[in-house]
Amino acid sequence: MALPNAAERTRSDLAHLIHPLYHPTDHQEPKIWVEGRGAMMKDINGVEVIDGLGGLWNVNVGHGRRELAEAAMRQMSTLAYCSSYTGASNLPAIELAERLSRLVYPSINTFFFTSGGAESTESSIKTARFYWKTQSKPDKVKIISRLLGYHGVTMAAMSATGIPEYWQMFEPRVPHFSHIASPYPYRFTGGDAHTSQGVAAANLLEEAIQREGPDTVAAFLAEPVQGAGGVIVPQDDYFLRIRAICDQYDVLLISDEVITGFGRTGTWFGLEHWGVEPDIMQFAKGITSGYVPLGGIGVSDTIKAAMDSTPPEQRWMHAYTYSGHPTCCAVALANLTILEEEGLVQRAAEMGNRLLEGLHTLDDLPGVGDVRGLGMMAAVELVADKATRQEAKVGPRMYQEMLKRGLYTRMRGDIICLAPPLVTTAAQIDRIVDIVREAIPAAMQGQ
Ligand SMILES: Cc1ncc(COP(=O)(O)O)c(C=O)c1O
Repeated sequence: MALPNAAERTRSDLAHLIHPLYHPTDHQEPKIWVEGRGAMMKDINGVEVIDGLGGLWNVNVGHGRRELAEAAMRQMSTLAYCSSYTGASNLPAIELAERLSRLVYPSINTFFFTSGGAESTESSIKTARFYWKTQSKPDKVKIISRLLGYHGVTMAAMSATGIPEYWQMFEPRVPHFSHIASPYPYRFTGGDAHTSQGVAAANLLEEAIQREGPDTVAAFLAEPVQGAGGVIVPQDDYFLRIRAICDQYDVLLISDEVITGFGRTGTWFGLEHWGVEPDIMQFAKGITSGYVPLGGIGVSDTIKAAMDSTPPEQRWMHAYTYSGHPTCCAVALANLTILEEEGLVQRAAEMGNRLLEGLHTLDDLPGVGDVRGLGMMAAVELVADKATRQEAKVGPRMYQEMLKRGLYTRMRGDIICLAPPLVTTAAQIDRIVDIVREAIPAAMQGQ
């Protein structure tokens, strides 16, 4: 099939389509993708590159999976859509919720479905407030999250997101949201001989709860590994201390597993690495590997009991038209089958190690400040000076140098973010490392 003319399509795109984070200066020569297979993607000019971010951290089972297309077709030709409002249900949604109850943290057995990450954040926040109202603590409404945390960009989610660029042109933010610093091992300066860095970073939550007033704080919202903020893997003792603080002050712990869910970090869910269970977990992305939009939240048995025992007039009055969408749930079920049958969670751990070990061979290159990762999430942080750790300001150049060599991914400032599909082959992983190795000196030149 002849591909359409790239220049003409670009003109049409610029005239009619507004993109996420849109600005025309960044959109003069957009990559127009037309095809994907495994970890590879092809653009309108026939150029093939490695998809270094697996779509947007979500194409866990890789591109071009016929099983998922067939699952969608089967469900669409049987019953594409029906309402899931209370009093109605459907078979794929029931099966998916039951299957998730076996996969997710032991104390979380009940699920509400959304269409994506931001809707999941909204659902978590509202559920936390709802829960405290059922406990006769209606003043517990505040949400604490972290700088560099990313939770989506609808109004409440944006207010929880801790990256000020996302706020600037949309202020004012929703009230009752505040942020603490991220644990960020490479840049966090707290901790001493008596208190580890991880505990010191977690103690910022205790300080914030005390400052806000424990009777006013509903929840702490955090990603197990921060993704969009620059792949920040916390210290091993961070979340244990966070859990203890949440318990001490009656604050719900919400785990944002939109990226870390469904195998990305080498376990099914992120907090499993540290033996911690949240009260609410939210997900999206990897549940369908991005083939159709689906997200959701899972709530602890305690929260579910509160939902069940509240009188009807004080019900959990939260809803989306597409909650429990039969087609999306059917695709999720097929996606879970692939993850299980192909052992992709274990594979993420193994290939993730290969990726991280490979990237560590770049440690001594000029400009490489930090290399970090967990499972199939990794980052290389470039700096102008290894001693001062000052910004290199080479993000756009680095992006281009990698793309030229066949690797497509996103930069967060000077941080190269990597999260390829879990099916990426060993040879492709090694190629990613080689491309990054070649692109760094090219990008740093003349810096
Ligand atoms: C951790 C996390 N939470 C929430 C979101 C928002 O998801 P969406 O873009 O589907 O609204 C994202 C998106 O990248 C994310 O990474």
